[in-house]
Amino acid sequence: MPKNSLSISVQLPAGSSLASKLNHELIEHLPVGVYLCDASGTVVAYNRKAAEIWGETPSVGDSQVKFCGAHKLLTLQGVHVPHEQTPLAEILVTRKAVTNFRTIVERRDGSRVPVLANIVPLFDDAGTMLGFMNSVQDLRHQIEQELAQQHLESALFQSQKMEVVGQITSGLAHDFNNQLASMSMALSLMEKEVETANSSRLSKYYALCKESVERATGLAENLLRFSRKRAKRLERVDPNQILLGMASLVRTAIGSKILLNLSLAPDARFLKANKQQLESAVLNLAINARDAMPDGGTLTISTHEAHLDRANFSHHNSNFKPGSYTVISVIDTGCGMAPEVLDKVFAPFFTTKEDGQGTGLGLSMVRGFVNEMNGQLTVESEPGQGSCFRLHFPCYGSEHSIAIDGVDQPR
Ligand SMILES: Nc1ncnc2c1ncn2[C@@H]1O[C@H](COP(=O)(O)OP(=O)(O)OP(=O)(O)O)[C@@H](O)[C@H]1O
Ligand SMILES: [Mg+2]
Repeated sequence: MPKNSLSISVQLPAGSSLASKLNHELIEHLPVGVYLCDASGTVVAYNRKAAEIWGETPSVGDSQVKFCGAHKLLTLQGVHVPHEQTPLAEILVTRKAVTNFRTIVERRDGSRVPVLANIVPLFDDAGTMLGFMNSVQDLRHQIEQELAQQHLESALFQSQKMEVVGQITSGLAHDFNNQLASMSMALSLMEKEVETANSSRLSKYYALCKESVERATGLAENLLRFSRKRAKRLERVDPNQILLGMASLVRTAIGSKILLNLSLAPDARFLKANKQQLESAVLNLAINARDAMPDGGTLTISTHEAHLDRANFSHHNSNFKPGSYTVISVIDTGCGMAPEVLDKVFAPFFTTKEDGQGTGLGLSMVRGFVNEMNGQLTVESEPGQGSCFRLHFPCYGSEHSIAIDGVDQPR
């Protein structure tokens, strides 16, 4: 029991008319804070839970904590309310009960406890007001539960919304694809005639048209890939072998201004994934890195093995299981991202690129793939400091990479 907490039977004056209104033992152990004030608003008795809410055990009769026993009271908006202006003080004038009054107790250490108060005036047999009794319900647990519930509801709403977006997208992309296929076919048939016409203007317009149709076809295919659920073949994958195999493709994609640095750990372990999706994820990240380094820089793609648990890996999502992970990192020295971009970076259709330059689907596809493989995708970035994307895949078996034994890493 807190040192000065009132065991009501001990600290109330013997024979007090207030004391006689309470069953002492019962009140002391209530899960609700209860305290009594006399007709001048001075706290004369309180139970254990009241002291816990206040974060201290004030001396009975202390005028500093008049009316409420707490160091400070705040409105729900966080504005300090002087004790004399609270409903607790008013009740002594109005003589009427105050019910379901929400307020915030600020403790001396600055921590806050939201509470629900019910205040009842107490009278003697002659109708003289003796003071009031306040029962204070600690709302911390309830508010935490409400927040968790809201979070769940909004996540559910978001996922339902995404499912609808996925369905619409897939339907639209499908129709577009059909139309584009007809246009493509018509263009191929036209090609010979354009050549025969030997008109440079016509050839230019034809080339423009063909390029646009190709770009639109690529976009529609991307959308279809994003919204479709296809059965994918999972296989045992040596991460180093995959990255070595992709090196020349990545080098072509990023161009000559950017240096590619492959840093492959010989102890990187095998993982289980769909090979094509893994390659496409790395390529997506490499192209994003290229776009973030228009004036050149270094793209580092590395592998390593890491043991992750909840203490050393705080970014995990809800599927996270502690254990050994193979980590593929894609690190650039580019423009980096501001916090507001970082917040939305995995959201489908989020892009900061100019119209026609990006669909904003790249990273959401990467994340979808990593999640499907029971992995974790993390990102760290600061404006001007480059970005680091890490794909963590659960290790598959105990075998280490064989790919870099006897194989020269590409320069
Ligand atoms: N390495 C990076 N450095 C800086 N910003 C990045 C990086 N990677 C992604 N971004 C930011 O995240 C946004 C979303 O990336 P995402 O790959 O999903 O779409 P996108 O690259 O814009 O379009 P798409 O991949 O469909 O061509 C980008 O527009 C960019 O603002
Ligand atoms: Mg992209």
